[in-house]
Amino acid sequence: MKLYSPCSPWRLLIPRQFSNLFKKGRHCDSALFHSHPQGSTTSLPEDMEACLYVHWPFCKKICTFCNFNKYASNNVDHYRMKKCLVAETKTLLQLSGVKKITSVYFGGGTPSLAEPLIISSVLETISRFSYLPTDVEITLEANPTSAETGRLRHFLSAGINRLSLGIQAFNQKDLLLLGRDNTVKDSLQALQEAKSIFPGKVSIDLLFGRPHQSLEGWSKELLQTIDVCDDHVSLYQLTLERGTPLFRDVKLGKLSLPSSDVVAEMYQMAVETLLRNGFHRYEISNLAKPGAESKHNMAYWNGTQYIGVGPGAHSRFIPLGNGLQTRQARVQTLEPNNWMKEVEIRGHATRKEVPQTKFEVLEEVIMSSLRTADGLSNKKWHSLSPFSKHLSLSDIFKESEDVQQLVESGVLILNEKGIKASHRGLSVVDSIITTLLVHLEKTVRILREDDQIDWKTP
Ligand SMILES: C[S@@+](CC[C@H](N)C(=O)[O-])C[C@H]1O[C@@H](n2cnc3c(N)ncnc32)[C@H](O)[C@@H]1O
Ligand code: SF4
Repeated sequence: MKLYSPCSPWRLLIPRQFSNLFKKGRHCDSALFHSHPQGSTTSLPEDMEACLYVHWPFCKKICTFCNFNKYASNNVDHYRMKKCLVAETKTLLQLSGVKKITSVYFGGGTPSLAEPLIISSVLETISRFSYLPTDVEITLEANPTSAETGRLRHFLSAGINRLSLGIQAFNQKDLLLLGRDNTVKDSLQALQEAKSIFPGKVSIDLLFGRPHQSLEGWSKELLQTIDVCDDHVSLYQLTLERGTPLFRDVKLGKLSLPSSDVVAEMYQMAVETLLRNGFHRYEISNLAKPGAESKHNMAYWNGTQYIGVGPGAHSRFIPLGNGLQTRQARVQTLEPNNWMKEVEIRGHATRKEVPQTKFEVLEEVIMSSLRTADGLSNKKWHSLSPFSKHLSLSDIFKESEDVQQLVESGVLILNEKGIKASHRGLSVVDSIITTLLVHLEKTVRILREDDQIDWKTP
């Protein structure tokens, strides 16, 4: 089993989470927005809302395991980056016609190395070209080094109200192996400072399945997590990424990884420890105390549109005025210098735009929402397409013997409300999703042969 934590931008490079389509009658009327009182929770049609991701691609030092879109640089031109991030935010907001931004996430790379002025300028731009409620969740990813800890208050003043700290490990030897430039002591200090500045709004990333990691050591780290963690944990199972120093060392036999059975046990141990201590698992690799779930993550998994700004960022939204009724998957130019040059010329650096087909949309929403504890509701499903509007999830899946077997074995719940993995099912959700997709494809093929639906058009 592979675990993903979609709060990370790299995961968004994989077209895993799209959805919510076939909306008609889009029109751009920004007055609609500015007339809302600040902080109003008035809801809009779904294609008028989006969450927004901003990618800061620079790091002080490159970790041995990471293959995100990141670049080590000590002389970043912050002024030029600010101008380009602001310009691209403006262009993509205008292109999407989105009227309300429901959450903002600054990820990286290491966005805690960016000047706080860059953060406030991007937020100001969002407010100018869309509606950004005052209580909206605005997260910053930060590394727990002393230099960055000292700047957290400035980020608060710039508009950040939630922090995601890349702790990775409470084990000094492993931090060195991972190429991190902080110590466990730095992490603890960063956590303490973060909790005092963003109370109830600090999440930590933990990496497991590390070279030579033992269950005993992991158990100790989890107890330490309970002691010091605020209320949100993202669990990342280490993926050995080709081209990284860690990959090379494992291939050369210098390092070895725990077996897949041990890694699966580590995952179960983490989930059980956190559940015993007041957390709940709202997505396969994200656990939170009640009310501390990441709104931004939930928006991705539930199929909200998203706009991605910055080098290599991805978007899923319906562009204004091109006649499409479904979303485009867009990706920005990866390399920061090329990205800046393109933004300076065109106002954005979209390298690729691909319309999503209706089937892809349904497939993707099943893949992402089944990973959450709430699963996929019929209400959401019906809103996705003319096809799904007329057939409930139960109409589609109750015919399949394989799906029925999953229900009977207690890993899948299928009823009039929708479909979801049970608590036990979440741990084997990849195989559940595969079974569902095979049956969905079969159903679609039969309907297509009967000429009941047109799947080719986006
Ligand atoms: C790309 S980082 C950005 C945040 C920040 N720079 C940091 O290092 O904490 C986001 C998260 O991705 C996870 N990550 C990066 N490379 C990974 C890999 N090869 N396997 C699993 N998780 C990975 C790490 O746990 C990290 O916290
Ligand atoms: S600091 Fe974060 S983004 Fe940068 S290399 Fe390390 S894990 Fe990757």
